[in-house]
Amino acid sequence: MMKTLKDIKKTKNVRALVRVDYNVPFKNGKILDTRRIDASFETIKSLHKKGFQTLLIAHLGDSKATLKPVAKYLSKYFKIVFITEDIKNTEKIKNLCSQVSQDTIILFENIRFYQEEKENSIVFSKALARLADIFVNEAFPESHRKYASIVGIPKYLPSYAGVQLEKEIKMLSPLFTNKKHPFLFILGGAKFGTKIPLLKKFIDISDNVVITGAILNSFYKFVGFEVGDSVVEGGYEKEIKKLISSPKILLPVDVLVVRSGAKKLVMANEVQKGDVIVDIGKQSVELINQKIKKSKIIIWNGPTGWYEKGFVGATKSLAQSIKTSKAFAIVGGGDTGAVIEKVLGEKENSKNIFVSTGGGATLEYLASGTLVGVKYLKD
Ligand code: 3PG
Repeated sequence: MMKTLKDIKKTKNVRALVRVDYNVPFKNGKILDTRRIDASFETIKSLHKKGFQTLLIAHLGDSKATLKPVAKYLSKYFKIVFITEDIKNTEKIKNLCSQVSQDTIILFENIRFYQEEKENSIVFSKALARLADIFVNEAFPESHRKYASIVGIPKYLPSYAGVQLEKEIKMLSPLFTNKKHPFLFILGGAKFGTKIPLLKKFIDISDNVVITGAILNSFYKFVGFEVGDSVVEGGYEKEIKKLISSPKILLPVDVLVVRSGAKKLVMANEVQKGDVIVDIGKQSVELINQKIKKSKIIIWNGPTGWYEKGFVGATKSLAQSIKTSKAFAIVGGGDTGAVIEKVLGEKENSKNIFVSTGGGATLEYLASGTLVGVKYLKD
């Protein structure tokens, strides 16, 4: 059984170290989508009620991006202190924490500033654990990573699942144990390296796998189609060769390109040098819609088009047809979730669509039934 916040007794003068996932999209220092941050509020409020001072650990991208804009956003809802002090200075940080009130939230600077995080260093994990009395994992989207703040800290502190993490597992686990058919898997977005091993598993467990997004360009290139100046992640030819032989794989037949500055719908084998593929085309959307209508379960990860540049047409059409279908859908990946919620026109999930905060983690959970980070939260 997973230990949750309900298993924590009311207390006094104690600290909770909470791993959250605030890896949110940014443009010019502005947060474009706050859903992942908002999803942690219930846990923060509950810990406060139970008498804990809350210390938040988060990451943002892989580089040196600061979490300062996140601190600013949080300050609209909570009393916040943003600590840029070296997190390994345990005594100094504890001292800083004891100088502020119990209801003040402490947010540390991007944990990926420390190389020990990805190395899952024991010394680093122990130093982090010394900061608090309990650990809460509220970072479902990061729980497939074997990093110090996910799998290191819980070795040294009593550890619990946050409210959102618990909700995600509750929604996803029946789908792992009881897979209904027809089962449609729609894959888009980028991060091909992370998704390739999962793609293999999804070919086994589903009935149809539709490839879209930037990943599609790698498939087109492999079959010898011109991809012009489109974004292509290379180096996966061996894997694609195996995957593409499966009759379950469906590649879109037409695409939207930008040619000499103008949008144009063309067949996939008619892309020219200099074109940039920015989305799948109308005929492909229609073919996928036919599959959607017949499906009982749909797992969808990653937008079909170049979301950051505003090419969301096909993603929106698919979201509309899922909304009116009889299928139950799990939608994952930050960008897909954002588009879906716009289409639904509300923050609440539609009754047949669960918008997961996770991307790679959601797929990993659905394929294997657990995540490394979740294993540590069991009794
Ligand atoms: C995500 O955005 O999927 C999670 O925050 C994981 O990010 P990562 O792939 O950089 O670990």
